[in-house]
Amino acid sequence: MSQGLVTAAYIVAAICFIFSLAGLSKQETAKQGCYSGIVGMAIALFATIFSETVSGLGWIMLAMIVGAAVGIHKAKKVEMTEMPELIALLHSFVGLAAVLVGFNSFIDAGNVSEDMHTIHLVEVFLGVFIGAVTFTGSVVAFGKLNGKISSKPLQLPHKHKLNAAALLVSFILLLCFVSADGSWFALLVMTVIALAFGWHLVASIGGADMPVVVSMLNSYSGWAAAAAGFMLSNDLLIVTGALVGSSGAILSYIMCQAMNRSFISVIAGGFGSSDAAGASGSEEVGEYREVQAAEVAAMLKDASSVIITPGYGMAVAQAQYPVAEITDLLRKNGTEVRFGIHPVAGRLPGHMNVLLAEAKVPYDIVLEMDEINDDFAETDVVLVIGANDTVNPAAQTDPNSPIAGMPVLEVWKAKEVVVFKRSMNTGYAGVQNPLFFNENSVMCFGDAKAKVDEILAELKK
Ligand code: TAP
Repeated sequence: MSQGLVTAAYIVAAICFIFSLAGLSKQETAKQGCYSGIVGMAIALFATIFSETVSGLGWIMLAMIVGAAVGIHKAKKVEMTEMPELIALLHSFVGLAAVLVGFNSFIDAGNVSEDMHTIHLVEVFLGVFIGAVTFTGSVVAFGKLNGKISSKPLQLPHKHKLNAAALLVSFILLLCFVSADGSWFALLVMTVIALAFGWHLVASIGGADMPVVVSMLNSYSGWAAAAAGFMLSNDLLIVTGALVGSSGAILSYIMCQAMNRSFISVIAGGFGSSDAAGASGSEEVGEYREVQAAEVAAMLKDASSVIITPGYGMAVAQAQYPVAEITDLLRKNGTEVRFGIHPVAGRLPGHMNVLLAEAKVPYDIVLEMDEINDDFAETDVVLVIGANDTVNPAAQTDPNSPIAGMPVLEVWKAKEVVVFKRSMNTGYAGVQNPLFFNENSVMCFGDAKAKVDEILAELKK
């Protein structure tokens, strides 16, 4: 394939990626967005592999077959609730690839002209730095998300100073690297520092703030890919990396706003790290009342307005189908039923919306937190199904809580609140929820699907 054709194919692929992002921004067009991305990637791969500058096709095919086999196996097996950890793992591959491309490009710079030599060295150094930070940061995020690493923030003494020192020393090493016309010593020392920096950056972030971190790492992985694109002089990789980098940064910014966090502190890896004390710990803070499914069914029959706030537990239990049936039944009986969705309910953005759409809950009764928060006070019954952190009043009342300042669904303002969970265990952020001990709250213990099925059976009687 001639260079001209490759360039044309790259432009078409880049346009497909832009359409893909546009499609993914709305639930109704998300599928088309995915198809557009697949077509773009197929064109990009085809043009790259068959361009006249590429040799060793056999090796590339072999790597692609192995990679595709692992990818297909993983994608088929992964549960919806495990998606963020899979994404974090994939980001770590992008980071590692950028490090390896950087080393490779340092060993063999290819056709870099004399006047571009210094720029090439800077590209190598920055590419390896961003890649290394993304790599270890993503590995820690993966560990935190699947529970292999504690979700509690790591509290090293002088952690901000340590981060600043890592950046400063890396900058000095960059100057040494360029002035020495490329030095393995400077490159390797910086790599070790960047690996430790990425690890520390994410380890110091508390559990509840992980969604923002995953999207920040998504952004970092985009910049790592763009850096690799500069080193390989591959325009499409630069464009794609920049698209991923900037869209990830925009998403992080939107999430920060939704969670009332400062964007700068996320980048600095320092928020969600206040010392947990008092009600922010995991101990119980009062007495709670337990109810059985039949009593909940009776409450629902008497109610004229109901709000359902789903969370991670509904996803694990796959309770969305009986929840949709209950909704349908109550609406047919004239009860107003709506859903309140917190921006970080579940384990990935839009998690609850996807589950409810799957169960055919009408879109118009599924409302965002801001749209429904003022209505709780006029609501008879709220069903909190497998949600915890997202309905925790301590976010508003306890400045020491790790989730302090995060906007939450104000379910406690309703006349009655029924909480579905299996035990008094804490949610993702590891903090106890004072909601469970309120006078107007009752606990319905058990697997969310089993309990909702029981209530459905009672309602049908
Ligand atoms: P969580 O705070 O994680 O609480 C989920 C609750 O569901 C737990 O209290 C658990 O209690 C219960 N549960 C688990 N399995 C259950 C089952 N089979 N049946 C019934 N209940 C079950 O959920 P949330 O309110 O949705 O908050 C989400 C959290 O995840 C936030 O802290 C958020 O920051 C974090 N996070 C979000 C994302 C995104 S982007 N959405 C990504 C990563 C992390 P029991 O164990 O007692 O049953």
